[in-house]
Amino acid sequence: MGTEDFKNKVKRNVAENFDQSIRMYQEFEEKHGFFKALALKMAETIDIEARTSVLDVGCGYGISARALNDRFGCSVLGVDLSPKMIAAGHSLSDGDDIRLLVGDGENLSHVVGDRRFDYVLYNASIFIFPDVSKTIAESYKCLRTGGKIAFSFYPQLVGEGNEDLFAVAFRRLGAPLPRFRVISDYSKASDALEHHCTNICHHRWVRPLDTRFLQDFFCIPAQSASLFPNREYGARSDLVRSLFATLSDMTDKGRIVWRMAEGTKSGSSVR
Ligand SMILES: C[S@@+](CC[C@H](N)C(=O)[O-])C[C@H]1O[C@@H](n2cnc3c(N)ncnc32)[C@H](O)[C@@H]1O
Repeated sequence: MGTEDFKNKVKRNVAENFDQSIRMYQEFEEKHGFFKALALKMAETIDIEARTSVLDVGCGYGISARALNDRFGCSVLGVDLSPKMIAAGHSLSDGDDIRLLVGDGENLSHVVGDRRFDYVLYNASIFIFPDVSKTIAESYKCLRTGGKIAFSFYPQLVGEGNEDLFAVAFRRLGAPLPRFRVISDYSKASDALEHHCTNICHHRWVRPLDTRFLQDFFCIPAQSASLFPNREYGARSDLVRSLFATLSDMTDKGRIVWRMAEGTKSGSSVR
């Protein structure tokens, strides 16, 4: 299979996984309010300006879009590969302020045409893209001069002395550490950002190691596939629960680290 065919296959699987994730995704968000909190944290971290325009890539069913509109008065266009995510978000979008469309974040010009945005944001989505260089090149084209691209990333679980608690949990469970937890890693995404943008900044949002949260987060079907690929969902969710239960003695010492990065399209201010 050629590289392009492989990338397209990955994207088809991603769309299917998220199509199947809606109910649990919504239940997770109702319980934890997490994706909203992460989107707002990213927006505050990059100092988002009020009443600006945002292109939200990998928007899911519009949690970030709604939060950015409610808190900062931003107008948001969301794009997502999963038709069911977008359909589930239609009740969240209202008229001109929030629009959600089905589309591929690696082919943004096709979806947004000539429109230019003050910000292009990826909230917990960029690590699922097989071609981060392509999506960043595309989002750069959709950005006004002086605008920013920013992303939040897949979590790290960090123990004392920077120990990788994912590795500890898999060892304790007696299961092999998955070779790829993400499709594109943080350095690849950062390199792509650096290739186009200036003023690159990296940030971290550090949270306590909450094993119940991790169980709920990774039980979302699409997330569980990153830890236990090639298994049926029932087996995956049982394994996810057992995996994070092995860390219950680490809750005082461990941390969940959400990394973020931002870069600017060279020029003057956002507007
Ligand atoms: C973990 S969810 C995050 C959703 C949303 N940003 C939020 O905060 O709720 C990741 C989303 O990225 C979307 N996605 C993955 N690859 C994509 C691509 N190539 N183009 C557009 N969306 C993509 C998935 O369909 C999924 O809805």
